[in-house]
Amino acid sequence: MKTWMRKKAIGLDTIADHHRLKPTLSWWHLVALGVGAIVGTGIYTLVGVGANMAGPAVIVSFLIAGAICACAALAYAEVATMIPASGSAYTYSYVVLGELIAWVVGWCLILEYSLVVSAVAVGWSGYAVGFLQSVGVDLPIAITAGPHAGGLVNLPAVAIVGVVAGLLALGSKESATVNAVLVVIKIAALVVFVAVALPHFDAANFKPFMPNGFAAHAVNGVQIGVMAAAAIIFFAFYGFDAVSTAAEETKNPGRDMPIGIVGSMIVCTLIYVLVAAVAVGAMPVAEFAKSPEPLALILRQLSSNTAAAVVGAAAVIALPTVILAFLFGQSRIFFVMARDGLFPAALAKVSPRTGTPVRITVLTAVVVAILAGLVPLDEIAALANAGTLVAFVAVGACMLVLRKQNPDAKRVFRTPAAWVVGPLGILGCLYLFFSLPTVTHVFFVIWTVLGLALYFLWGARRLDREAA
Ligand code: ALA
Repeated sequence: MKTWMRKKAIGLDTIADHHRLKPTLSWWHLVALGVGAIVGTGIYTLVGVGANMAGPAVIVSFLIAGAICACAALAYAEVATMIPASGSAYTYSYVVLGELIAWVVGWCLILEYSLVVSAVAVGWSGYAVGFLQSVGVDLPIAITAGPHAGGLVNLPAVAIVGVVAGLLALGSKESATVNAVLVVIKIAALVVFVAVALPHFDAANFKPFMPNGFAAHAVNGVQIGVMAAAAIIFFAFYGFDAVSTAAEETKNPGRDMPIGIVGSMIVCTLIYVLVAAVAVGAMPVAEFAKSPEPLALILRQLSSNTAAAVVGAAAVIALPTVILAFLFGQSRIFFVMARDGLFPAALAKVSPRTGTPVRITVLTAVVVAILAGLVPLDEIAALANAGTLVAFVAVGACMLVLRKQNPDAKRVFRTPAAWVVGPLGILGCLYLFFSLPTVTHVFFVIWTVLGLALYFLWGARRLDREAA
């Protein structure tokens, strides 16, 4: 068999009952897990970026991105329960679609996980700087913004990556209790925002509703339109793979998984649409769209300094868990790929002292910290989305291929109306991908070419030698 068509041998029926982790979770645990992993910089900061692209119709962008993610998430759950091995979309592709596609998907996941860390760090910095200002500590712009925004480097963003990477290298993991507390903090802050801003709602702020049209298009090099915003806002929804990977531990996965996944999508979409609608209603889009801390800015403009400080503090406390989760995920993907022989094993070496892959954590942290320090949030998020969208397309394809090739394999969870939901998810992700800015496509192609070169010059050759 050609090298690049090699598949990883994991039996599809291997999820025998005696191999399953102890099933202790029910649907509401899953919804909490999903909401905890999902809510972050997307709603706290990118809501402004999206509003700048779509105008008040950013609400529609949230609905579209949420619906596409729900389709992708259902496919994810089916495949995740059939192939309960670590490595997420990379491993599923290795089992179903072959080594080359798996490599590309793994390479995309590395892009996604790393850039989410950078993006959330930049979002965190916006709120941290605003919060410090509100308590009288004014940091100079030179060290709080990258060159694109008139500064030199976004030092708080660099610092938070360093702190979280340090914690991770020391072996910290998110505990369920800490996660639950932070979910409550994140959501409570959004509730405070809605409660304080809603009385200032003015329907006139919704006119014109769709000033930049529906389809994504560039004007003077700036990407605008409802779909352009949806392609960025997509960032706000991912993180639900956390729910799919808990499938084995779910009491009644056939019922609880779809409720957990679609439930957390619905809860997040509702919260997001509500927050976006209240933000747009409270203030003309142009006044908050470009802020690094749009929700806090709106509250401050409405003369609610206390509420602004509460929302700012909640973001500062809770957003680092999203960084932790994705930095952790990144080292795991890298680890699995190195274990498969596609990366040098030395890079994924686990430190005997801490039991964590320190080298790769530090290497990743340095790269993402540099990006967070220098590159604008929307550009980082767009590229993270490109990587994620490709991985989602691959998972949708895996689900459909498995349905064809192994119709009788045991499925703990079956996607309802798979032949509608699967293709809708794939086509939706492709539409979002092509709605991203051209510069994102260019960087994505460069990244993919680099990855392919690495694969053919190193990974494939090495595996060939091993197989010979
Ligand atoms: N969905 C996550 C966020 O918005 C990545 O921060």
